[in-house]
Amino acid sequence: MIKVGVIGSGSMGTGIAQVAATAGHEVHLYDNNPSALDRSEAFINKIMSRLVEKGRLQPEEAEAIKGRIHYQNNLFACSDASLIIEAIVENLDVKKQIFETLEDAVSEDTILATNTSSLSIAAIAAACKKPERVIGIHFFNPAALMKLVEIVPAVQTSEETQEKATQIIESWGKTTVLAKDTPGFIVNRVARPFYGEALRILEEGLADVPTIDWALTHIGGFKMGPFTLMDYIGNDINYTVTETVFEAFYYDQRYRPSFTQKRMMEAGFLGKKSGRGFYDYSEGAQNPAPNEDAEKGNEIFTRILYMLINEAADAAYLNIASPGDIDLAMTKGVNYPKGLLQWADEIGIQRCVNGMDRLYTEYLEDRYRCSPLLRKLARTGKGFFK
Ligand SMILES: NC(=O)c1ccc[n+]([C@@H]2O[C@H](COP(=O)([O-])OP(=O)(O)OC[C@H]3O[C@@H](n4cnc5c(N)ncnc54)[C@H](O)[C@@H]3O)[C@@H](O)[C@H]2O)c1
Repeated sequence: MIKVGVIGSGSMGTGIAQVAATAGHEVHLYDNNPSALDRSEAFINKIMSRLVEKGRLQPEEAEAIKGRIHYQNNLFACSDASLIIEAIVENLDVKKQIFETLEDAVSEDTILATNTSSLSIAAIAAACKKPERVIGIHFFNPAALMKLVEIVPAVQTSEETQEKATQIIESWGKTTVLAKDTPGFIVNRVARPFYGEALRILEEGLADVPTIDWALTHIGGFKMGPFTLMDYIGNDINYTVTETVFEAFYYDQRYRPSFTQKRMMEAGFLGKKSGRGFYDYSEGAQNPAPNEDAEKGNEIFTRILYMLINEAADAAYLNIASPGDIDLAMTKGVNYPKGLLQWADEIGIQRCVNGMDRLYTEYLEDRYRCSPLLRKLARTGKGFFK
């Protein structure tokens, strides 16, 4: 067992501390805001009681897990940890500052990891004297429940750091995938069209919100439709991620955010948390029913699916991750019903190419350009896994 430091006791830090303590490690959980530490402790206590009530943990196990989490208001309490995972505010300067301050106090081979969703790991590592010890370890929310963790080495990261970090996270029962240090890593990049194309279909007036959601859930087999999911994530958060990815990709039109969602955010229609988003969540509210026209539903679903497959194919083409890891990331990280590249193989690569080309011919927008890898596979009669 090792000592683990977690910096930031917000929603992610608390979840990561819970996972590490459940795996048997002593955890120092630091936050510079005392009330965040109190909230974190109260949350862990509540979760542990619930797990005991449900019979998923013995009372003594729950006590032991709680006893292994040490809530700290001094950053240097983490300095004897072998792995430190930072999960503070998403701000490059603040994250750099924390690692700069910590590095002098930790041992030679301590791994410094960041849970950032959108910042460059290379830029964070550059703040350190030993950047080879810095790596991205990207958990999903809620960290205790979501199986997937993206391991993101920076250009400076040593192989030893990558291997050690992967081995530790897998020993916590997580599934790891290896991603290149590029905007959105795997999941937050490949998932963009799920929201973006649904918004585009809405803006074009091809279908309304409940119909698009119905098409994706009832025909596509997704657990949640895109609008339900945007409302659940929060239109503010989801819009900001899209905007960050768009800017980080030098304004590639494929990732262009939607005015519709921006206006929702500006109006305070954030989704479930504000009581109103694309749907009305107030007591007794009646939301419109979908138009369950199979032909239209199929058209909506396949358009979004082709866009998702195209994005996944392009991530494979640019070596952001292996096809196997891309599929694993989307099924374990965002619960897609099937890996997108596996799906492409099943549908037939040529059909995916035709689907993209039809969209491109219709709109003549760069947004609908077909990935060169899809074209190449179609030409050679190969698939991603066959
Ligand atoms: N929320 C998500 O869905 C999600 C998913 C994956 C990754 N992330 C990433 O995880 C990180 C944390 O996100 P979160 O949602 O837990 O945020 P949060 O706002 O819930 O928690 C952040 C915590 O960091 C603390 N903090 C801020 N500055 C600090 C400092 N200088 N020193 C010590 N503590 C400080 C705050 O007091 C707060 O408790 C971000 O980098 C985010 O991009 C978030």
